[in-house]
Amino acid sequence: VTDRSDDRPLVWVPFSAEELGPVPEELEVATVDLTRDVPDTVDRVRFLVPEYGFEFGVFDLLGRMPRLEVVQVQFAGVESVRGKVPEGVTLCNGRGVHDASTAELALTLTLASLRGIPGYTRLQDQQRWERSWRPALADRTVLVVGHGSIGQAIEERLRPFEANVVPVARTARPGVRGVEELPELLPDADVVILILPLTEDSRGLFDAEMIARMRPGALLVNVARGAVVDTDALVAACQEGRIGAALDVVDPEPLPPGHPLWTTPGVLLTPHVGGASSAIRPRALRLVREQLRRYAAGEPLLNVVSGAY
Ligand SMILES: NC(=O)c1ccc[n+]([C@@H]2O[C@H](COP(=O)([O-])OP(=O)(O)OC[C@H]3O[C@@H](n4cnc5c(N)ncnc54)[C@H](OP(=O)(O)O)[C@@H]3O)[C@@H](O)[C@H]2O)c1
Repeated sequence: VTDRSDDRPLVWVPFSAEELGPVPEELEVATVDLTRDVPDTVDRVRFLVPEYGFEFGVFDLLGRMPRLEVVQVQFAGVESVRGKVPEGVTLCNGRGVHDASTAELALTLTLASLRGIPGYTRLQDQQRWERSWRPALADRTVLVVGHGSIGQAIEERLRPFEANVVPVARTARPGVRGVEELPELLPDADVVILILPLTEDSRGLFDAEMIARMRPGALLVNVARGAVVDTDALVAACQEGRIGAALDVVDPEPLPPGHPLWTTPGVLLTPHVGGASSAIRPRALRLVREQLRRYAAGEPLLNVVSGAY
């Protein structure tokens, strides 16, 4: 029996062989749970797919992988790991994997906030039957800031609710407004959904001045990254009752006990769970299967992170 394991590129994945299904025969694919132990073959790994949610510790291991060529992460926003990828190693992100899951959460946060679900949940705890009139999503103007993979999925899901959707991206194009137009667009928006990457340009984009441009009573939904918004300015605007907020991501994370965001009226919080749903794994598997096919065939990989991405 010829042992081919030494000459085929070694791929570590967090998926079982059964889940992943057939893989290109040019590759040696091993299921590895890096949260438990690091196999001795660590110095032979060429293609690494870390487990979702455990990627951060894994980046400290890369120095032990001299033959590493590709790291395929399952999350989309790679701002905190880019600097940890060694020179010459290609980083691919999970663009597409999160579209359904995060778009669903954006809609959930928007609808729940508009229709007052957090308040009704508190009333339910007290067994109180108290009706109130609330803004509907129908007929509202919704700015979707970031019109990439997830932003488009959010737009598609907003349209059947009869909302007037205005997509905004870094670069203006037909049907999409440019980010420099935000100051003029904000006063007319009832809901602003943030779904852009955290980059040097977007850090602090929603500062006190930008928040002040928002229409009184408007809702800011952040499913992007906490640091796109100036937290102190947001807390101040919400405490004054000028705007409301629904936040899956905050700055800092995790939000420490006692932070004013926990108790500010009109703020709905979820603990960065945009991707924490059943929708992720099947989509991550689809992406990894396609990446392995391309890698084995010598074709360009998808989702290669470069520039401001
Ligand atoms: N809450 C969660 O759990 C969760 C889950 C997944 C992802 N995310 C966050 O969502 C982000 C977007 O993911 P994606 O897969 O949709 O990314 P994507 O496909 O790369 O799209 C990014 C979009 O943002 C726009 N953009 C970039 N910089 C901008 C700026 N300074 N101002 C305005 N727009 C800007 C881009 O504009 P152009 O089209 O003009 O280039 C593009 O439309 C990720 O980076 C991540 O931080 C959060």
